[in-house]
Amino acid sequence: MPTQDELKLQAAQRALDFIEPGMVVGLGSGSTATLFIKLLGEKVKQGLKIRGIASSEDSAKLGAELGIPIIGFDKATETDVTVDGADEVAPGLALIKGGGGKLLREKIVASASKKFIIVADASKIVQKLGKFKLPVEVIPMAEPLVTERLRALGYPSSIRQAKGGSGNYITDEGNLILDCDPMQVADPEVLAAELDGMVGVVEHGLFLDMADLALVAGADSVVEYTPETKF
Ligand code: A5P
Repeated sequence: MPTQDELKLQAAQRALDFIEPGMVVGLGSGSTATLFIKLLGEKVKQGLKIRGIASSEDSAKLGAELGIPIIGFDKATETDVTVDGADEVAPGLALIKGGGGKLLREKIVASASKKFIIVADASKIVQKLGKFKLPVEVIPMAEPLVTERLRALGYPSSIRQAKGGSGNYITDEGNLILDCDPMQVADPEVLAAELDGMVGVVEHGLFLDMADLALVAGADSVVEYTPETKF
């Protein structure tokens, strides 16, 4: 049985099939997207001409170190393909993302993608979203208000802490992340609308109707999931 890291690598490798010369490629964040960026960097070293738009400071730095020309939306207003990971993938390719804290820029890049591809190992597949703590990015000033509103709606949360005990985790845009306690998300659209309507919330980790394809590596093969695939 392959390890989880081996499966992530297989999914990342498959995503290379969708990259063509001249493309603008959205670079995701997290461990699986990082494997993809490294593989893409090898192709660039071998002569592949692409440009990348990164969904985090980490991915921008890694991409640049590997020789991938990193551009902003001032140079191209959409990506041809974006490849990113996910924390949960449910039917319809409804996703929870943001386990790595990069959900805001990830959603911006995903929203500007002609094709948004998820790379994941099979442990990310779920029937219903919500076992993974849903991240909500908030303006620091509004954190106590949003925490209370979330609690009142039945979504208790806690402020994400930085690794190494150095205090609150701060996002690339200088905000805080509230991680909602695990829940069964009965209707992701309703929850997303509630969060979208909350003043002080910058973005949340529900990515609905965004992904076109998920490349999911299991024990035997990498399976392609579309929004129509029955789980
Ligand atoms: C980063 O903020 C996330 O959205 C990641 O894409 C997600 O957490 C998946 O990460 P892994 O590939 O590390 O599981």
